[in-house]
Amino acid sequence: MKCLILYFSQTNSTRKVAEAIGEELAAHEWYLKLKNIKDEKVDHLEEYDLIGFGSPVYYFRLPFIVEDYLKSLPDLNNKAVFSFISYGSYYFNVPFQIRKILKEKNTVNLGFYAARGEDKYLGYLKEGVLLSESRPNKDDISQAKEFTRYLIESFQQNTASENNYSYKSKNKKNLIYNIESLLTKRWLIDKIYTRLFFSKKSCTGCGKCVKECPQNNIILNSKKRPQWGKSCELCFNCEMICPVQAIYSSADMKIFDPVFKYNVRQAINDNEINYTEIDYKKGEIIKK
Ligand SMILES: Cc1cc2nc3c(=O)[nH]c(=O)nc-3n(C[C@H](O)[C@H](O)[C@H](O)COP(=O)(O)O)c2cc1C
Ligand code: SF4
Ligand code: SF4
Repeated sequence: MKCLILYFSQTNSTRKVAEAIGEELAAHEWYLKLKNIKDEKVDHLEEYDLIGFGSPVYYFRLPFIVEDYLKSLPDLNNKAVFSFISYGSYYFNVPFQIRKILKEKNTVNLGFYAARGEDKYLGYLKEGVLLSESRPNKDDISQAKEFTRYLIESFQQNTASENNYSYKSKNKKNLIYNIESLLTKRWLIDKIYTRLFFSKKSCTGCGKCVKECPQNNIILNSKKRPQWGKSCELCFNCEMICPVQAIYSSADMKIFDPVFKYNVRQAINDNEINYTEIDYKKGEIIKK
Protein backbone atom coordinates (compact mmCIF):
# COMPACT_ATOMS: atom_id res chain seq x y z
CA MET A 1 0.00 0.00 0.00
CA LYS A 2 1.15 3.55 -0.68
CA CYS A 3 0.81 6.48 1.67
CA LEU A 4 1.62 10.13 1.01
CA ILE A 5 2.10 12.48 3.96
CA LEU A 6 1.97 16.18 3.14
CA TYR A 7 2.76 18.57 5.93
CA PHE A 8 3.91 22.09 6.64
CA SER A 9 6.52 22.66 9.31
CA GLN A 10 8.69 25.65 10.13
CA THR A 11 10.25 24.64 13.42
CA ASN A 12 10.13 20.86 12.95
CA SER A 13 7.45 19.78 15.43
CA THR A 14 4.92 18.83 12.76
CA ARG A 15 7.73 17.20 10.82
CA LYS A 16 8.59 15.01 13.84
CA VAL A 17 4.98 13.83 14.09
CA ALA A 18 4.87 13.20 10.33
CA GLU A 19 8.05 11.14 10.57
CA ALA A 20 6.74 9.11 13.51
CA ILE A 21 3.58 8.25 11.57
CA GLY A 22 5.74 7.46 8.54
CA GLU A 23 8.03 5.15 10.53
CA GLU A 24 5.09 3.17 11.84
CA LEU A 25 3.58 2.84 8.36
CA ALA A 26 6.94 1.72 6.99
CA ALA A 27 7.21 -0.83 9.82
CA HIS A 28 3.93 -2.25 8.50
CA GLU A 29 5.47 -2.44 5.03
CA TRP A 30 3.74 0.54 3.53
CA TYR A 31 5.49 2.50 0.78
CA LEU A 32 5.79 6.05 2.01
CA LYS A 33 6.36 9.54 0.61
CA LEU A 34 6.78 12.48 3.01
CA LYS A 35 6.81 16.08 1.76
CA ASN A 36 6.91 19.49 3.39
CA ILE A 37 4.60 21.57 1.19
CA LYS A 38 6.77 24.64 1.65
CA ASP A 39 9.51 22.84 -0.34
CA GLU A 40 7.52 20.94 -2.91
CA LYS A 41 3.95 20.49 -4.08
CA VAL A 42 3.05 16.91 -5.04
CA ASP A 43 0.91 16.04 -8.06
CA HIS A 44 -0.77 12.74 -8.89
CA LEU A 45 -2.35 12.20 -5.50
CA GLU A 46 -4.50 9.50 -7.12
CA GLU A 47 -1.48 7.16 -7.04
CA TYR A 48 -1.70 6.83 -3.25
CA ASP A 49 -4.02 4.61 -1.21
CA LEU A 50 -3.92 6.87 1.83
CA ILE A 51 -3.01 10.55 2.25
CA GLY A 52 -2.14 12.33 5.49
CA PHE A 53 -2.13 16.09 6.01
CA GLY A 54 -0.15 17.71 8.81
CA SER A 55 -0.01 21.30 10.00
CA PRO A 56 0.88 23.58 12.88
CA VAL A 57 -1.77 25.89 14.33
CA TYR A 58 -1.28 29.59 13.56
CA TYR A 59 -3.45 32.24 15.19
CA PHE A 60 -6.30 29.86 16.14
CA ARG A 61 -6.51 28.46 12.59
CA LEU A 62 -4.56 26.74 9.81
CA PRO A 63 -1.60 28.65 8.38
CA PHE A 64 -2.61 30.20 5.04
CA ILE A 65 -0.09 28.06 3.17
CA VAL A 66 -1.89 24.91 4.37
CA GLU A 67 -5.40 26.29 3.94
CA ASP A 68 -4.61 27.41 0.39
CA TYR A 69 -2.96 24.10 -0.44
CA LEU A 70 -5.88 22.02 0.84
CA LYS A 71 -8.36 24.23 -1.00
CA SER A 72 -6.36 23.88 -4.23
CA LEU A 73 -6.59 20.07 -4.20
CA PRO A 74 -8.69 18.42 -6.89
CA ASP A 75 -11.67 16.20 -6.08
CA LEU A 76 -10.08 13.19 -4.34
CA ASN A 77 -12.71 10.70 -5.37
CA ASN A 78 -13.35 8.97 -2.02
CA LYS A 79 -9.68 8.79 -1.07
CA ALA A 80 -8.90 7.66 2.49
CA VAL A 81 -7.24 10.53 4.36
CA PHE A 82 -6.15 11.47 7.87
CA SER A 83 -4.85 14.63 9.47
CA PHE A 84 -2.63 15.71 12.33
CA ILE A 85 -1.49 18.94 13.90
CA SER A 86 1.09 20.25 16.32
CA TYR A 87 0.20 23.15 18.55
CA GLY A 88 1.72 25.19 21.35
CA SER A 89 -1.23 25.88 23.63
CA TYR A 90 -4.76 25.60 22.18
CA TYR A 91 -5.90 24.35 18.82
CA PHE A 92 -9.42 25.69 18.85
CA ASN A 93 -11.43 24.59 15.78
CA VAL A 94 -8.51 23.65 13.56
CA PRO A 95 -9.48 19.94 13.29
CA PHE A 96 -12.90 20.99 12.05
CA GLN A 97 -11.38 23.48 9.63
CA ILE A 98 -9.27 20.68 8.11
CA ARG A 99 -12.14 18.22 8.11
CA LYS A 100 -14.48 20.67 6.39
CA ILE A 101 -12.05 21.32 3.53
CA LEU A 102 -11.23 17.62 3.12
CA LYS A 103 -14.92 16.75 3.07
CA GLU A 104 -15.43 19.22 0.24
CA LYS A 105 -12.66 17.37 -1.60
CA ASN A 106 -14.65 14.15 -1.41
CA THR A 107 -12.48 12.16 0.98
CA VAL A 108 -13.08 9.46 3.59
CA ASN A 109 -11.68 10.60 6.89
CA LEU A 110 -9.83 7.97 8.91
CA GLY A 111 -8.88 10.15 11.86
CA PHE A 112 -7.09 13.05 13.46
CA TYR A 113 -4.17 13.32 15.86
CA ALA A 114 -2.92 16.36 17.79
CA ALA A 115 0.43 16.68 19.56
CA ARG A 116 1.94 19.60 21.37
CA GLY A 117 4.86 21.26 19.60
CA GLU A 118 7.47 23.63 21.03
CA ASP A 119 6.06 27.13 20.52
CA LYS A 120 8.69 29.46 19.06
CA TYR A 121 6.25 32.27 18.39
CA LEU A 122 8.39 35.42 18.49
CA GLY A 123 5.97 37.40 20.68
CA TYR A 124 6.18 34.78 23.44
CA LEU A 125 9.94 34.31 23.16
CA LYS A 126 10.32 38.04 23.72
CA GLU A 127 8.25 37.62 26.88
CA GLY A 128 10.88 35.12 28.04
CA VAL A 129 8.74 31.99 27.78
CA LEU A 130 9.01 28.86 25.65
CA LEU A 131 5.63 27.10 25.74
CA SER A 132 5.37 23.34 25.24
CA GLU A 133 9.13 23.06 25.57
CA SER A 134 10.69 19.95 23.96
CA ARG A 135 7.38 18.76 22.55
CA PRO A 136 6.56 16.54 20.81
CA ASN A 137 8.23 14.35 23.43
CA LYS A 138 8.63 10.57 23.66
CA ASP A 139 5.02 10.09 24.78
CA ASP A 140 3.64 12.30 21.98
CA ILE A 141 5.64 10.27 19.46
CA SER A 142 4.50 6.95 20.84
CA GLN A 143 0.87 8.19 20.74
CA ALA A 144 1.42 9.20 17.11
CA LYS A 145 2.53 5.63 16.43
CA GLU A 146 -0.47 4.21 18.25
CA PHE A 147 -2.68 6.49 16.16
CA THR A 148 -0.98 5.10 13.05
CA ARG A 149 -1.72 1.51 14.07
CA TYR A 150 -5.33 2.55 14.50
CA LEU A 151 -5.27 4.12 11.02
CA ILE A 152 -3.87 0.97 9.45
CA GLU A 153 -6.53 -1.15 11.13
CA SER A 154 -9.36 1.16 10.01
CA PHE A 155 -7.95 1.19 6.50
CA GLN A 156 -7.65 -2.60 6.31
CA GLN A 157 -11.01 -3.32 7.87
CA ASN A 158 -12.71 -0.52 6.03
CA THR A 159 -14.18 0.72 9.30
CA ALA A 160 -13.41 4.39 8.76
CA SER A 161 -15.90 6.67 10.35
CA GLU A 162 -15.98 10.39 10.90
CA ASN A 163 -16.21 9.86 14.64
CA ASN A 164 -13.71 7.07 15.10
CA TYR A 165 -10.77 9.08 16.35
CA SER A 166 -10.62 12.10 18.59
CA TYR A 167 -11.87 15.19 16.82
CA LYS A 168 -12.63 17.06 20.01
CA SER A 169 -11.46 20.64 19.91
CA LYS A 170 -9.02 22.08 22.46
CA ASN A 171 -11.17 25.10 22.81
CA LYS A 172 -10.31 27.74 25.31
CA LYS A 173 -11.88 30.51 23.33
CA ASN A 174 -12.89 33.46 25.41
CA LEU A 175 -13.62 37.06 24.52
CA ILE A 176 -9.96 38.06 24.34
CA TYR A 177 -9.05 35.13 22.10
CA ASN A 178 -12.02 35.96 19.90
CA ILE A 179 -10.75 39.52 19.56
CA GLU A 180 -7.23 38.26 18.81
CA SER A 181 -8.69 35.96 16.22
CA LEU A 182 -10.41 38.93 14.56
CA LEU A 183 -7.21 40.97 14.70
CA THR A 184 -5.30 38.29 12.81
CA LYS A 185 -7.76 37.85 9.96
CA ARG A 186 -6.11 37.49 6.61
CA TRP A 187 -7.28 40.79 5.14
CA LEU A 188 -5.84 42.66 8.13
CA ILE A 189 -2.51 40.87 7.79
CA ASP A 190 -2.45 41.60 4.04
CA LYS A 191 -3.47 45.23 4.43
CA ILE A 192 -1.78 46.30 7.65
CA TYR A 193 0.70 43.97 9.38
CA THR A 194 2.61 43.24 6.22
CA ARG A 195 3.40 46.97 5.97
CA LEU A 196 4.92 46.88 9.42
CA PHE A 197 8.13 45.12 8.42
CA PHE A 198 11.25 47.26 8.16
CA SER A 199 14.92 46.51 7.64
CA LYS A 200 17.50 48.35 9.69
CA LYS A 201 20.76 49.89 8.48
CA SER A 202 22.61 46.81 9.69
CA CYS A 203 21.02 44.71 6.90
CA THR A 204 23.81 43.18 4.81
CA GLY A 205 21.56 42.21 1.90
CA CYS A 206 22.41 38.53 2.41
CA GLY A 207 18.98 37.40 1.18
CA LYS A 208 18.47 34.78 3.89
CA CYS A 209 15.06 36.23 4.79
CA VAL A 210 14.04 35.95 1.12
CA LYS A 211 15.04 32.28 1.00
CA GLU A 212 13.45 31.29 4.29
CA CYS A 213 10.05 32.93 3.85
CA PRO A 214 7.50 30.11 3.43
CA GLN A 215 5.24 32.37 1.38
CA ASN A 216 7.92 33.82 -0.93
CA ASN A 217 6.73 37.16 0.33
CA ILE A 218 10.09 38.96 0.34
CA ILE A 219 12.27 40.23 -2.48
CA LEU A 220 15.53 42.17 -2.39
CA ASN A 221 15.19 45.53 -4.12
CA SER A 222 17.82 47.17 -6.30
CA LYS A 223 19.57 48.44 -3.16
CA LYS A 224 19.70 44.85 -1.84
CA ARG A 225 17.20 45.68 0.86
CA PRO A 226 14.29 43.34 1.66
CA GLN A 227 10.87 44.42 0.51
CA TRP A 228 7.77 42.69 1.88
CA GLY A 229 4.81 41.75 -0.31
CA LYS A 230 1.20 41.18 0.69
CA SER A 231 0.98 37.43 1.21
CA CYS A 232 2.37 37.06 4.69
CA GLU A 233 1.75 34.36 7.33
CA LEU A 234 2.90 36.71 10.07
CA CYS A 235 5.12 33.87 11.24
CA PHE A 236 8.09 36.22 11.89
CA ASN A 237 10.44 33.59 10.54
CA CYS A 238 12.23 36.27 8.48
CA GLU A 239 12.94 38.28 11.60
CA MET A 240 14.04 35.26 13.62
CA ILE A 241 16.51 33.90 11.09
CA CYS A 242 18.14 37.22 10.13
CA PRO A 243 21.81 36.72 11.08
CA VAL A 244 22.26 40.37 12.09
CA GLN A 245 18.83 41.02 13.66
CA ALA A 246 18.14 43.70 11.07
CA ILE A 247 14.36 43.23 10.88
CA TYR A 248 11.84 45.22 12.88
CA SER A 249 8.17 44.22 12.81
CA SER A 250 4.86 44.37 14.64
CA ALA A 251 6.28 41.74 17.05
CA ASP A 252 8.58 44.50 18.35
CA MET A 253 5.90 47.14 18.78
CA LYS A 254 4.96 47.91 22.37
CA ILE A 255 1.27 48.14 21.43
CA PHE A 256 1.13 44.34 21.02
CA ASP A 257 2.89 43.54 24.31
CA PRO A 258 -0.35 43.24 26.34
CA VAL A 259 -1.61 40.56 23.91
CA PHE A 260 1.58 38.50 24.19
CA LYS A 261 1.60 38.92 27.97
CA TYR A 262 -2.05 37.87 28.28
CA ASN A 263 -1.57 34.73 26.16
CA VAL A 264 1.58 33.72 28.00
CA ARG A 265 -0.11 34.24 31.38
CA GLN A 266 -3.10 32.11 30.33
CA ALA A 267 -0.84 29.33 29.10
CA ILE A 268 1.54 29.18 32.05
CA ASN A 269 -1.41 29.06 34.45
CA ASP A 270 -2.73 26.01 32.63
CA ASN A 271 -1.41 22.81 34.24
CA GLU A 272 -1.66 20.97 30.94
CA ILE A 273 0.91 23.22 29.27
CA ASN A 274 4.58 22.78 30.12
CA TYR A 275 6.93 25.70 29.63
CA THR A 276 10.35 26.98 30.50
CA GLU A 277 11.72 30.46 31.08
CA ILE A 278 14.23 31.64 28.53
CA ASP A 279 16.26 34.60 27.36
CA TYR A 280 15.79 35.50 23.73
CA LYS A 281 18.93 37.25 22.54
CA LYS A 282 20.27 37.82 19.05
CA GLY A 283 17.86 35.30 17.62
CA GLU A 284 18.90 32.60 20.10
CA ILE A 285 16.80 30.87 22.72
CA ILE A 286 18.82 30.51 25.90
CA LYS A 287 17.17 28.30 28.50
CA LYS A 288 17.58 29.55 32.07
C1 LIG B 1 2.71 32.55 13.85
C2 LIG B 1 2.39 31.49 14.86
C3 LIG B 1 1.12 31.43 15.41
C4 LIG B 1 0.79 30.41 16.32
N1 LIG B 1 -0.48 30.33 16.81
C5 LIG B 1 -0.82 29.31 17.64
C6 LIG B 1 -2.16 29.15 18.13
O1 LIG B 1 -3.07 29.93 17.83
N2 LIG B 1 -2.42 28.11 18.97
C7 LIG B 1 -1.45 27.22 19.34
O2 LIG B 1 -1.74 26.28 20.09
N3 LIG B 1 -0.18 27.32 18.87
C8 LIG B 1 0.15 28.34 18.04
N4 LIG B 1 1.43 28.45 17.55
C9 LIG B 1 2.43 27.42 17.92
C10 LIG B 1 2.62 26.37 16.83
O3 LIG B 1 1.38 25.87 16.39
C11 LIG B 1 3.44 25.20 17.38
O4 LIG B 1 4.64 25.66 17.92
C12 LIG B 1 3.70 24.17 16.30
O5 LIG B 1 4.17 22.99 16.91
C13 LIG B 1 4.75 24.63 15.29
O6 LIG B 1 4.89 23.63 14.31
P1 LIG B 1 6.21 23.46 13.43
O7 LIG B 1 7.37 23.31 14.38
O8 LIG B 1 5.98 22.21 12.66
O9 LIG B 1 6.32 24.64 12.57
C14 LIG B 1 1.78 29.47 16.68
C15 LIG B 1 3.08 29.57 16.16
C16 LIG B 1 3.38 30.56 15.25
C17 LIG B 1 4.77 30.64 14.67
S1 SF4 C 1 18.32 38.22 6.42
FE1 SF4 C 1 18.68 40.15 7.48
S2 SF4 C 1 20.64 40.86 6.70
FE2 SF4 C 1 19.92 39.28 5.28
S3 SF4 C 1 18.79 40.46 3.71
FE3 SF4 C 1 17.30 39.82 5.23
S4 SF4 C 1 17.18 41.56 6.64
FE4 SF4 C 1 19.05 41.82 5.46
S1 SF4 D 1 6.51 36.87 8.56
FE1 SF4 D 1 8.28 37.02 7.21
S2 SF4 D 1 8.85 34.88 6.82
FE2 SF4 D 1 6.76 34.84 7.63
S3 SF4 D 1 5.47 34.85 5.82
FE3 SF4 D 1 5.69 36.97 6.48
S4 SF4 D 1 7.39 37.73 5.28
FE4 SF4 D 1 7.48 35.52 5.17
